[in-house]
Amino acid sequence: MKGLVLSGGKGSRLRPLTYTRAKQLVPIANKPVLFYGIEALAAAGIREIGIVVGDTHEEIRKAVGNGERWNVEVTYIEQDAPRGLAHAVLISEEFIGHEPFVMYLGDNLLNKGIAPFVQEFVNTSPAAQILLTRVPDPQMFGVAELEAGKVVRLVEKPKEPQSDLALVGVYMFSPEVFESVKQIRPSFRNELEITDAIQNLIDRGFVVRPHLVEGWWKDTGKLDDMLEANRLILDTLDRRLEGTIDSHSRVEGKVVIEAGAQLTDSVVRGPAIIGANAKIEHAYIGPFTSIMNNVEIRGSEIEHSIVLEGSILSDLANRVIDSLIGRNVRIIRQPIKPSAYRFMLGDNSEVGIRW
Ligand code: DAU
Repeated sequence: MKGLVLSGGKGSRLRPLTYTRAKQLVPIANKPVLFYGIEALAAAGIREIGIVVGDTHEEIRKAVGNGERWNVEVTYIEQDAPRGLAHAVLISEEFIGHEPFVMYLGDNLLNKGIAPFVQEFVNTSPAAQILLTRVPDPQMFGVAELEAGKVVRLVEKPKEPQSDLALVGVYMFSPEVFESVKQIRPSFRNELEITDAIQNLIDRGFVVRPHLVEGWWKDTGKLDDMLEANRLILDTLDRRLEGTIDSHSRVEGKVVIEAGAQLTDSVVRGPAIIGANAKIEHAYIGPFTSIMNNVEIRGSEIEHSIVLEGSILSDLANRVIDSLIGRNVRIIRQPIKPSAYRFMLGDNSEVGIRW
């Protein structure tokens, strides 16, 4: 059994962050989302993993390497443009060969891993097995309709959903799917949809097994989902304090402070993670916050947020909440006149100001 991780695509819902970085590398609890998927495949016993990459291939290759660190062998498969999930399957035929495989969307997170689903697929060997979960907004996903426990219909992003069962971004396929991805045509959004390929399997009389996911699942493609995924993962961390914490600081609950981080006269209330060489001075870091390496937080308060490498928050009058702050961003209070906001923001940035 092989693994196929999809790490191409555009990431338009996470701009401006994804102008300069692959969305699959945005960290959740200070670790790229993509790594959770690779770990899940490795934990299910899969050793050969193909990663479909697009424009951001260099960055993905640099972060993942050859897979040694997870004891897996990684092959990169280049996709010329994001032509759809089924197109990603189509171009991976040579890598997959005649084996069954697990396809994992590189921006998805599942808390309980995938080992039991893979086992179930191996034991029952259907043409495909899909994971489903109930969602309040099915029109945002691929949706499955079941009859007597069988999948009868799949629709991608339906305007009028007939079911609230969304397709989770982990699929198991037999090589039969290659015929289906060749038979289907591009959709309304001009992509080869994997939902259409699975529908094609059903129409050709093959068995598609549904499996309802217990526990949580997150597609981290949007800000709110990222913050929630961050919250869920931070909650699973064990307390580990390796940095320097002065006697005026307090660290409460599930907190990770990486080596080289320095806490001075500050409070960190977990669950939270502070990356290597971060400097936290006269600050409050509240629950569900991830502070990456080399960040400086001085005289400021922040909670339920993610701050990426090298950014600085200094002397802010109000607490920062529900925020995703990119790399090398500076938010600094300055004692200069006139007293006004001064911005230099990238395209598609979003700033919320109290009035
Ligand atoms: O997250 C679950 C949903 O994922 C399913 O419910 C939908 O049925 C499925 O179509 C997919 O919907 P999205 O619109 O969220 O897919 P997205 O474009 O975000 O792509 C998912 C991942 O696959 C992402 O890591 C980028 C990668 N990708 C995407 C496309 C379109 C590729 O590698 N190549 C591509 O051509």
